[in-house]
Amino acid sequence: MTRRKRNRHSSGERAVSVLQSHEIGQMRSAGRLAGELLDHVEREIRPGITTADIDAMVHKLTAERDAVSAPLGYHGFPAHCCTSINEVVCHGIPSPRRRLESGDIINVDVTPIVDGFHGDASRTFLVGDVNPIARRLVEDTYVSLWLGIAAVRPGATVGDIGYAIQSFVEPRGYAVVRQFSGHGIGRIFHTAPAVMHYGRRGEGMALRPGMTFTIEPMINLGDWRCDVLDDGWTAVTVDRALSAQFEHTVLVTERGVEVLTAGACELERLAAAGISVPEMVRIGGLAMSPPPAKVASAS
Ligand code: MF3
Ligand code: CO
Ligand code: CO
Repeated sequence: MTRRKRNRHSSGERAVSVLQSHEIGQMRSAGRLAGELLDHVEREIRPGITTADIDAMVHKLTAERDAVSAPLGYHGFPAHCCTSINEVVCHGIPSPRRRLESGDIINVDVTPIVDGFHGDASRTFLVGDVNPIARRLVEDTYVSLWLGIAAVRPGATVGDIGYAIQSFVEPRGYAVVRQFSGHGIGRIFHTAPAVMHYGRRGEGMALRPGMTFTIEPMINLGDWRCDVLDDGWTAVTVDRALSAQFEHTVLVTERGVEVLTAGACELERLAAAGISVPEMVRIGGLAMSPPPAKVASAS
């Protein structure tokens, strides 16, 4: 996610990512690999593995697909993905010393670069037996991402996305992180617009076909504010209460939105969460790729 700096309007300074039609297939490939990486990690998540093990899985599968991990070396980030456990909001650094324990929630955030294009996605996974409050936070955060996605169409604004997310989560007692936002993405990892996960309807940049950006709400059980630890990366909640996040990369289409980073089980996940997706939402990754076992040969 983009770190927001005070007194600086990032969307005014950087170019918005608007794809040419011949670039859409390339963004689909990058997005599809991001979904595939998370499907792979999801199958392997269990108590006892370390976050360095997760990083190694992401590295291996990325390399097998002739792709590159955007996070590695990004402003000096030392790993292939971010692993953010419990009170960690985002940008957790994989470590051989951190083993997953039953009851943890962990967000894994991946961004493969395929032929120069970035696909950015994350999911929060439940490890072993997770208490009902934490589980509900994770489920509601997933719903909030999809409410944000459903607000995307030509003529809508980034404020509509933020409003859709905020107006769902705050009445449920959660808080929306404000230091980090979604972002334009394409050949560049982080560009305009900044996609805040709170906001007012009709405000901010208008969306138009060809724009690609991420939506990646970070939702907290307690205070919305974050601290960054001494490693310069790990963002934690100020009160050390739990935080969850889901992220997709999306493309604004003529009629609505296409989700580029869907996983193979996205439809089941949506059904389990009780979400019915409006017709203008195209779940690109799914429509494009066969079930996980066959994805390898699809691209
Ligand atoms: N993937 C993150 C995002 O959603 C960014 C990670 S940058 C890193 O924007 F350097 F921390 F890897
Ligand atoms: Co992102
Ligand atoms: Co990400």
